[in-house]
Amino acid sequence: MPKDTLTITDNRTGTTYEVPVANGTIKAMDLRQIKAGADDFGLMTYDPAFMNTASCHSAITYIDGDRGILRYRGYPIEQLAEKSSFVETAYLIVHGELPTQPQLKEWSAQIAAHYMVHENIKKFVDGFHYDAHPMGMLVSTVAALSTFYQDSKNIFDAASRQHQAYRLLGKMPTLAAYAYRHSRGLPYVYPDPALSYVGNFISMLGQRAGACEPFIPNPVLERALDLLFILHADHEQNCSTNAMRAVGSSHADPFCAVAAATAALYGPLHGGANEEVLKMLRDIGSTDHIPDYIKRVKSGELRLMGFGHRVYKNYDPRAKIIRAAAHSVLEVTGSSPLLDIALELERIALADDYFIRHKLYPNVDFYSGIIYQAMGFPVAMFPVLFAIARTAGWIAQWQEMLLDKEQKIARPRQVYVGHAERAYVPIEKRSGA
Ligand code: SDX
Repeated sequence: MPKDTLTITDNRTGTTYEVPVANGTIKAMDLRQIKAGADDFGLMTYDPAFMNTASCHSAITYIDGDRGILRYRGYPIEQLAEKSSFVETAYLIVHGELPTQPQLKEWSAQIAAHYMVHENIKKFVDGFHYDAHPMGMLVSTVAALSTFYQDSKNIFDAASRQHQAYRLLGKMPTLAAYAYRHSRGLPYVYPDPALSYVGNFISMLGQRAGACEPFIPNPVLERALDLLFILHADHEQNCSTNAMRAVGSSHADPFCAVAAATAALYGPLHGGANEEVLKMLRDIGSTDHIPDYIKRVKSGELRLMGFGHRVYKNYDPRAKIIRAAAHSVLEVTGSSPLLDIALELERIALADDYFIRHKLYPNVDFYSGIIYQAMGFPVAMFPVLFAIARTAGWIAQWQEMLLDKEQKIARPRQVYVGHAERAYVPIEKRSGA
């Protein structure tokens, strides 16, 4: 009967070790016993960018990169996209189960009760230049919220964590909308708790300040944005979630941890990719320029933004859903030449051996920007929309980390490759070599 163990023979010493295998992993700490001598620290694993390292046990999101599967708490993303709402999906991701009617009502009402931000937040936003990137404003203002909610440091109090979840989910759209209004030189629009989560967000973006008549968002656009929020809500141990967990592991408050996660998401290789996709499609300009662009990508000069993924080596299931949604949005907003370029770019790339060999398929960012652009969002707002949705996942992952008895402050090791010990050289004796 095969045993769930690995037998390791250290050829430096001839010693053999047996380490248990569980969930397709061995514990890195089980390697420390492998030493080549008495003063040997013991073996570590070396894994830059954590290409092959599991940092935690998680029950939140399951991805099968080869089969293009994505599930939140076991529910397939395709079913949630079709049947759920972002607020309900956020409840599922944070609490682990789909809510009952009363639970959903309470959850929605509590989030809506926390849409408003302190008036002083406006002063922070006013202080930014007219051309400040909204992601920079969002990182700053969500971090600033930690100074208003000192009780958020009670991270091991379940009621306090729930309260911070309401605040974060309720206020991220408001901070995003304030950043947007500031960048357009428009007055801020207060949140309207009578509107849906997405309806309120669209109202804060587009409502005339001081208007008496209620804002009525276009239902197709409201549904499309709600769908995009569902698709972006969580994605297991991505770069920004890793930042959320790492900062949270030092027991910093959740607002500072979300600020760190938002900063990580800002990067063009991560959440900033949807912005880069739009710039790329505009650079390409027309479908007949695609072959030349593909040549530059294959030469290594450029990356095809919105393509490729660390986990998905097949089509990102979210991209499929967004691609279909793009058509319904464009029926309302009018056709987009960028969608035509994107569809042709995808067709050519997926038939090209380079992309097949590198297993590069469209990811969540490839089509989302086309919808955002069609809805009238400036490109700089695209990663901000990603951050609003991913706040649900960041909260859930942060809480799971705090309650996981195996977790402690995240502090990786290193392989030192610098100078050996050397004596201080007085400045007059330094050659500058
Ligand atoms: C998101 O992790 C998540 O789950 C993220 C996310 C989430 O929901 O949180 O899914 C959201 O961030 C989606 C990814 C958005 N980023 C982009 O679209 C930017 C373009 N894509 C890449 O830069 C890249 O594909 C990554 C960053 C997404 C993944 O990078 P990896 O896994 O580290 O792969 P790699 O950079 O080591 O590339 C492997 C090979 C390289 O070729 P070689 O050097 O081996 O010859 O594939 C090539 C790369 O050059 N390659 C690409 C490419 N992506 C990888 N070549 C051209 N175009 C690309 N987009």
